[in-house]
Amino acid sequence: MQITFDLFADSESEQPRRAEQIGDQSWVLRGFALPHIERLLPALESVIAIAPLRHMMTPGGFSMSVATSSCGELGWITDRSGYRYSAVDPLSNQPWPAMPDAFRELAQAAATQAGFAGFIPDSCLINRYAPGAKMSLHQDKDESDYAAPIVSLSLGLSAMFLFGGFARSDKSQRIALLHGDMVVWGGVDRLRYHGVLPIKPGRHRLLGEQRFNLTFRTAG
Ligand code: SIN
Ligand code: FE2
Repeated sequence: MQITFDLFADSESEQPRRAEQIGDQSWVLRGFALPHIERLLPALESVIAIAPLRHMMTPGGFSMSVATSSCGELGWITDRSGYRYSAVDPLSNQPWPAMPDAFRELAQAAATQAGFAGFIPDSCLINRYAPGAKMSLHQDKDESDYAAPIVSLSLGLSAMFLFGGFARSDKSQRIALLHGDMVVWGGVDRLRYHGVLPIKPGRHRLLGEQRFNLTFRTAG
């Protein structure tokens, strides 16, 4: 009985809509995407059918535990030459799939809710985490300027998000992100370190044994 309950709590729970402030210009928007899931999931499927998820290589020569793809005008990539944005998918040498309207509209609505009206994302990075996959603490700093916020959407299995300070060694807040939650950080918080602890095993009702994170940015 206890096991069933824990599994439910971990992988199935959803949050009622509310905003939690986690920094001067940073917000967790609980359940913000839940009314839009039925439009978002087919759009996600159609993007990764064209630009498949793949484990990219870090400049140091390690394969990322997270599998990634992108849509929009620019996609974030990494290989032995470094981290950067590219207008073409290196797997196909074709432009990335267009950003679905459902993605753009949701990202803009979340940004507006968090105080960043006028956000125009040109890039959506898709991160797929299987259980055990993680994202080490990092800053998002490959974008050409930092005026626009970072807008992030969590789908599927829950994650423990780390939201830190401006030095890697600063203490991080630990924030559980559930299916449908969004995080927006920008302005004075734009360069905060952040990361994700290894995803715990579980099965999500809609997405199975995985978590997706979509990160919307103005990159170019
Ligand atoms: C990232 O910072 O690239 C991913 C964050 C997340 O998966 O929530
Ligand atoms: Fe990031």
